[in-house]
Amino acid sequence: MSLRLNTKYLSSFVSEKEMQQIKPQTELAAKILADRSGAGNDFLGWVDLPVDYDKDEFACIKAAAERIKKDSEVLIVIGIGGSYLGARAAIELMRSPLYNNLKKDTPEIYYVGNSISPAYLNEVISLVEGRDFSVNVISKSGTTTEPALAFRIFRSMLEKKYGKEGAKSRIYATTDKARGTLKELSDKEGYETFVIPDDVGGRFSVLTAVGLLPIAVAGCDIDKVMAGAAKAREELSAGFDDNDCYKYAALRNILYRKGKSTEILVSYDPSFAMMAEWFKQLYGESEGKDKKGLFPASCIFSTDLHSMGQYIQDGSRLMFETVVDIKKPKSDLFLEDDAANLDGLNFLTGQNMSVVNRRAFEGTVLAHTEGGVPNIVLELDDTAEESFGYMVYFFEKACAVSGYMLGINPFDQPGVESYKKNMFALLGKPGYEDQKAALEAKLGR
Ligand code: PA5
Repeated sequence: MSLRLNTKYLSSFVSEKEMQQIKPQTELAAKILADRSGAGNDFLGWVDLPVDYDKDEFACIKAAAERIKKDSEVLIVIGIGGSYLGARAAIELMRSPLYNNLKKDTPEIYYVGNSISPAYLNEVISLVEGRDFSVNVISKSGTTTEPALAFRIFRSMLEKKYGKEGAKSRIYATTDKARGTLKELSDKEGYETFVIPDDVGGRFSVLTAVGLLPIAVAGCDIDKVMAGAAKAREELSAGFDDNDCYKYAALRNILYRKGKSTEILVSYDPSFAMMAEWFKQLYGESEGKDKKGLFPASCIFSTDLHSMGQYIQDGSRLMFETVVDIKKPKSDLFLEDDAANLDGLNFLTGQNMSVVNRRAFEGTVLAHTEGGVPNIVLELDDTAEESFGYMVYFFEKACAVSGYMLGINPFDQPGVESYKKNMFALLGKPGYEDQKAALEAKLGR
């Protein structure tokens, strides 16, 4: 197992008896998932994806990645939510949060279409000026406003720079196989397209072309990513007693029912920050329904021990922590002796920085649990491809099981539409005239 549950620090919060008592509910939820008999069962394509994926398309993804690496200094990845977070999480975790600043033989990657900030867009535009670039536009529905706006801008830049024909060979569209404006446009213009399967929802799509093309462009081995996920698919179908994924889902539900309303996903490595954003979308959008669900939050320690640490230690007792403990960092650093020792740190001479980080983890877990914050620990082997693929599958399956235990449909997102309707009405989109007047009145205009 590349990701293992460690319950060592939970003993004063969750008893073995409670685990045994929730076991039948967890098994039932896992059965509903396996039988495909639960709510949202038309979105279970991710379950077998690690072994049951389109091998021809996979080869095309690799070929496209090679082409982009050869002809582009920069790749612009356009997408939002599930069409953005997974790729960025993967690249920052497996390569580096400083990926664009590394000395490397792969293109720089910038992400747009995940906000509507004109300043951010202008900054990315200035970064690609005078450089060879390609665009990977990703949208399952093909109609999402944020990426559509960004695509309009970058497509026009490509056409101005390379002409319509030249631009065509630099645009890669990842979208639905048949529907949506992006699909129509791609077919009309002749862009290379990749398919997001109908039965894979946005936040469960990182192991499709959505994540795999940018991940491959960044120089990661996508065969190994899929192998890690396949290993998880096999191992995490074991019975409750041997299944850390089910136990994690059970623990979340026990703690939720005990009044913990917030789960803080914690890591001691900044390369995990976007992975935590991916996790927050996966769990927030899947479980936050019918006035229920844990609020998913995240912290990077020790960074946030100097900001959120006070609250976690001493504030309202709302939360538990799930710590992803990366066993083997990408690299290590030895601390050297300093003759003057003015900083008094010579007691650490010859020590590894990773050991200092581990002691910070141990000290924090002890302090936080003493402060009344339960700590679930998930031990991750490393940040390489197999572990990444394994972790993605672990969290996806735990999310589905946990969601069924909560009694919600983990695979829809009806709440996301409300802001869109209001925004369209306020922008004067045809068809929204009545809502516009009502909203303008509310805003006092
Ligand atoms: O998980 C989801 O379904 C959402 O977060 C979507 O991924 C997000 O809204 C983007 O949608 P689309 O890919 O259709 O542009």
